[in-house]
Amino acid sequence: MKNSTVLDVRELECAYGTVKVLSGISFQLEPGTILGIAGENGAGKSTLVKCICGLLKPAAGQIQRQVPAAAIHQEFNLAPDLTVAENIFLGREPECGSMLKKKFMAEKTEQLLDSLGVSITPETLVSALTVAEKQMVEIAKAVGSDSGILIMDEPTTVLTQTETEKLFSLVRALTAQGKAVIYISHKLDEVLSLCSRIMVLRDGAMAGMYNASELTPRLLAEKMVGRELSRIFPDKLPPPAGVPKLEVEHLCARGVNDISFSLHAGEILGVAGLNGAGRSELAETLFGLRKITAGTVRINGKEIRLRSVRDALKNKIAFLTEDRQGSGLLLDFPIDLNMTLAALPEYKKAGFLDFKKIARKALQYIKSFNLKCASPAQAVRHLSGGNQQKAAIAKCLDTAPEIFIFDEPTRGVDVGARREIYDFVHSLAGKGAACLLISSDLEEVLGLCRRIMVIRNGSCAGIVSGEELTEQHIIRKAAGVEK
Ligand SMILES: Nc1ncnc2c1ncn2[C@@H]1O[C@H](COP(=O)(O)OP(=O)(O)OP(=O)(O)O)[C@@H](O)[C@H]1O
Ligand SMILES: [Mg+2]
Repeated sequence: MKNSTVLDVRELECAYGTVKVLSGISFQLEPGTILGIAGENGAGKSTLVKCICGLLKPAAGQIQRQVPAAAIHQEFNLAPDLTVAENIFLGREPECGSMLKKKFMAEKTEQLLDSLGVSITPETLVSALTVAEKQMVEIAKAVGSDSGILIMDEPTTVLTQTETEKLFSLVRALTAQGKAVIYISHKLDEVLSLCSRIMVLRDGAMAGMYNASELTPRLLAEKMVGRELSRIFPDKLPPPAGVPKLEVEHLCARGVNDISFSLHAGEILGVAGLNGAGRSELAETLFGLRKITAGTVRINGKEIRLRSVRDALKNKIAFLTEDRQGSGLLLDFPIDLNMTLAALPEYKKAGFLDFKKIARKALQYIKSFNLKCASPAQAVRHLSGGNQQKAAIAKCLDTAPEIFIFDEPTRGVDVGARREIYDFVHSLAGKGAACLLISSDLEEVLGLCRRIMVIRNGSCAGIVSGEELTEQHIIRKAAGVEK
């Protein structure tokens, strides 16, 4: 191993039980550099991270680390009942009296969060944080461990552009200090702008190592999937006509302040805004998860009662939550049960669950979403991140809804599968469903929607359409610099 190498991986092989997931992986990492890893869902990226961190024992090959490695894993690893500071120092608490320790931890935590441009009180319980805040704490925790190798597995899926930029300047500063970084993301433009070299994984093997300067997002995507790609967005649907399917007037709830809009059958209405602006709060209110304090909701022109999830389901509203692991899926349950969970009464025969029917339905979803799994009976926990997302979508679809609320549907999903999800949303709307698409990915809402509602401070900052459908207009409205 060269002197200047902090990590040397040779002919690495890795398996879960008897299923081989990685093989023939060899690369080196030099201090002060950022190596990107790209690959489709299930290619083996997170598995590689676990091997490097020592969480998973390789089946063959060698990993030599000259310095400790810290990782931000794809799924949250925080202890919900501990404070932010306690989480950041978990396992490496300073050794001094408890008063001093508390003060030291609080100060250090504040400093770390400051460098990321977030203000969270160190004493806050992690369970009280939003998803984006949790992610920031994960980042602070890894950075704070002061390890020579920093690995980031999809760190920005829940972050906005501004937050992402803050993270990038921090990463660049850390590499300037000599740290080595491994960066994994499905946001290919991010990978290309941040990393100097990019390793592409395909089906657990190295499909190539490239200099970022030789690639474009499209080229990189093609290396990932191993074929040429067609356009990512389907043609936009025709503008909807007739009476609206859903009419929301002066809606108020905790975090939602006087929002009015209408949504037609056959329409995909985009919802944009900064993190914490109230987009998910609006979604939760429309799904009966938040108490409506004022305003009305009408479906097909008739005012509905919306006091619980049951009310929402009865009115054929479905919701894909942004917090897949927190409230979307039962991780230790099999894939097929998860997919059919929301409509379980449909699968009862003479009072018993018809497991054959459940498995059949699940296989259909697995096929149409191209979900990679060993079998429908596999626990959802053992799926790769993007494939868990596909399972969550299937679950929400299975209730045969007429109104869909998608909160960040393509989070952590690779380019190929993203196209499948877009086609899917598109065909749902094409068949007459009314879709609300919340996304932090502006390209995504701009690519699919004719109208985009911008949320700011819990209120509607405007509905953008026609010539105003540009990134710039939306960002300015979201930030409050344009009325
Ligand atoms: N604990 C586990 N038990 C069994 N199989 C697993 C487990 N974790 C992952 N796998 C399988 O290993 C393969 C690689 O998964 P991995 O999570 O490394 O993919 P990934 O490249 O990180 O994908 P994504 O982009 O979706 O995050 C997948 O086929 C997945 O189903
Ligand atoms: Mg992963």
